[in-house]
Amino acid sequence: MPDPASPSAPLVLGIETSCDETAASVVGRDASGRAVILSNVVLSQIDEHAAFGGVVPEIAARAHADAIEGVIGAALTQARVTLGRIDAVAATVGPGLVGGLIVGALAGKAIAASRGLPFLAVNHLEGHALTPRLTDGVPYPYLMLLVSGGHTQILLVSGVGRFERWGSTIDDALGEAFDKTAKLLGLASPGGPAVERRAAGGDAERFPLPRPMRGERRLDFSFSGLKTAVRQTAERHAPLSPQDVDDLCAAFQRAAALSIADRITLALQRYREERPELAEPVLAVAGGVAANRAIRRGLEDVCARAGVRLVTPPLSLCTDNGAMIAYAGLERLEAGLADGLDAAVRPRWPLDERAAPVIGSGRRGAKA
Ligand code: KG4
Ligand code: ZN
Repeated sequence: MPDPASPSAPLVLGIETSCDETAASVVGRDASGRAVILSNVVLSQIDEHAAFGGVVPEIAARAHADAIEGVIGAALTQARVTLGRIDAVAATVGPGLVGGLIVGALAGKAIAASRGLPFLAVNHLEGHALTPRLTDGVPYPYLMLLVSGGHTQILLVSGVGRFERWGSTIDDALGEAFDKTAKLLGLASPGGPAVERRAAGGDAERFPLPRPMRGERRLDFSFSGLKTAVRQTAERHAPLSPQDVDDLCAAFQRAAALSIADRITLALQRYREERPELAEPVLAVAGGVAANRAIRRGLEDVCARAGVRLVTPPLSLCTDNGAMIAYAGLERLEAGLADGLDAAVRPRWPLDERAAPVIGSGRRGAKA
């Protein structure tokens, strides 16, 4: 258990229910101003959706409703505080599955209303995007690669609510492509870790696969062509032996890692050109796919070559959690950005509202 926050520091209760994790956390600051996670409780619904091969919105909403009170209670207990010690309540209000968002937002608003506390309506993506500040105190601005089941984006993060989207997927999110590849090859859900495990025993050279967007000047991503190439290769070689599956996983993972490395190389070039004054430029990653070792290795190489520091928060804070929502709420509170209790849930809510919408933009996945 980390040091408790000093009594004077604001403590924020954060609630996350946008997809298939019911999560709550208490975050504050220590006397030196460093963010401290006092508790971080995540209840995954993965088993409840497994039989359906993806997240079922109705099941998710009901599971959130059943679990939310217990998860919030556990977060307070783990933090060794009562509601009387909480200074503000933050909840994810978008983007995500509307049923779950309503459950979390209502719970947060009810606590805020009954205790007379400020309410912070947090964008789930802002939670991911600010995580390197929670874990490593990274100063603004920094570049962010968000790679999850619902999103694949490059963002310039300049402050609370200040994001510039430099690139995004034009079709599938990378996690979604991992999950679909796994399903196609008969592997267990969630697909990403399963593909990574099988790739370890595979020959990435045996099946040639496309390198999506390689060399393109725009900073976008595309993974549906890669996924289709895996399907076509699998069909050509059916029935697949276990070694065939390993080799296909290795080829897919290699292509994905190379594509990410290629896009990030370009992004870092632009970053260095546009912000030459930054003494220590940072690229931070978040999202479940950031767990993938091949992708991490690719990013380490690219960052080392560009002279950019790579910040990879611990995996438990890269995937969906309540601490990132509590922390985003804390920064919003400190910036005087509290919301009214009439803040609406927003199933679609891009971080950079000025960026042109991208066709598809990875919104078809379960996590979208
Ligand atoms: O961030 P996350 O937990 O949830 C959201 O999408 O918001 O990310 C989940 C995604 C899934 O698509 C999962 O297959 C993928 O992250 N993932 C991985 C790995 N671990 C999780 N993908 C590739 N390699 C992994 N080791
Ligand atoms: Zn997420």
